[in-house]
Amino acid sequence: MSQKIRAAITAVGGFVPDDKLTNADLEKMVDTSDEWIKTRTGVSERRILKGENKGTSDLGAPAILNLCQKRGLDPSEIECIICCTVTGDMTFPATANIIADKIGAINAWSFDLGAACSGFLYGVTTGASLIESGRYTKVVVVGADKMSAIVDYSDRTTCILFGDGAGAILLEPSKDETGILDSILRSDGSGAQYLHMKAGGSLKPASIETVTRKEHFIYQEGQAVFKFAVKGMADVSAELIERNNLTGNDIAWLVPHQANKRIIDATANRMGLSPEKVMLNIERYGNTTSGTIPLCLWEWESKLKKGDNIVLAAFGGGFTWGATLIKWSY
Ligand code: UT7
Repeated sequence: MSQKIRAAITAVGGFVPDDKLTNADLEKMVDTSDEWIKTRTGVSERRILKGENKGTSDLGAPAILNLCQKRGLDPSEIECIICCTVTGDMTFPATANIIADKIGAINAWSFDLGAACSGFLYGVTTGASLIESGRYTKVVVVGADKMSAIVDYSDRTTCILFGDGAGAILLEPSKDETGILDSILRSDGSGAQYLHMKAGGSLKPASIETVTRKEHFIYQEGQAVFKFAVKGMADVSAELIERNNLTGNDIAWLVPHQANKRIIDATANRMGLSPEKVMLNIERYGNTTSGTIPLCLWEWESKLKKGDNIVLAAFGGGFTWGATLIKWSY
């Protein structure tokens, strides 16, 4: 009997634009305060992709090039690129196609995956399945979002939360017992009412009225999403470690989606994890949607040790949520 192939993360890359939008800047734009934003969300500043003709592909492409350079990989060796995003350059073609062209990944097939803030988690499981099938040996998953393109900077309840950024991982067949071990993914479309973008899709194509009514921006009922997020993210993370016969003591790192520091604290608490085991970049980058988790891996890479048990966890629009257990491979 042939042995089961397991997928492993073998490299990470990241990219954030240089321009910062601080809480002090936002105080000049809407009725808010640095103190409110910090205590209610944990965010101090975010990065914004500025300039004409710059889209999400301009975040994803440099993130993958960073990964290739670190790993000594030529982009032409990549077999598949999955771009997790809700802010594609255009409705079609897929931003993954545009990224592949920009980086010279001439042998890759590529597609976008839309699962909002859980996009990267969905991408990891999808990419790992391609490796596990035995058909592919080099799959890149990039989480990239230019959230500033869909944020209404006159709405104080959402503009304080989001930022732009991208992170990427390379998946290859594991050579040992490390790799992507298990994952629980969920979705519930009845949650769409609380977090969505009203217009621009086939249901309500763009018109003068949709623009006037500001329907091309993020619509979020924050409190409702908050309640579902705390329960959803904590429940799956606890279930995942339990069904793998682990406790908080066995987990080296929690890598949570960075939507709100209070949601992250509740999840860590429920898993019995101390704060120093939790990766946090929300303070500097805000919520970069599909970018949050791979950007954490990118920044914490030097602290990760081979064999570390790591839990990735997310909750977001859809609703979508989930958790993934990884034994770090390098
Ligand atoms: O990643 C995708 C998933 N998204 C999430 O997980 C986000 C989940 N939701 C949240 O993180 C939080 O609900 C928010 C950060 C969006 C809001 O925090 P909250 O503690 O739930 O605040 P709230 O909506 O209950 O508002 C409390 C008060 C309100 O004033 P009143 O009605 O009590 O007078 C708001 O109008 O805070 C007010 N408020 C603000 N005040 C200053 C709302 N936004 C602001 C602001 N600055 N930016």
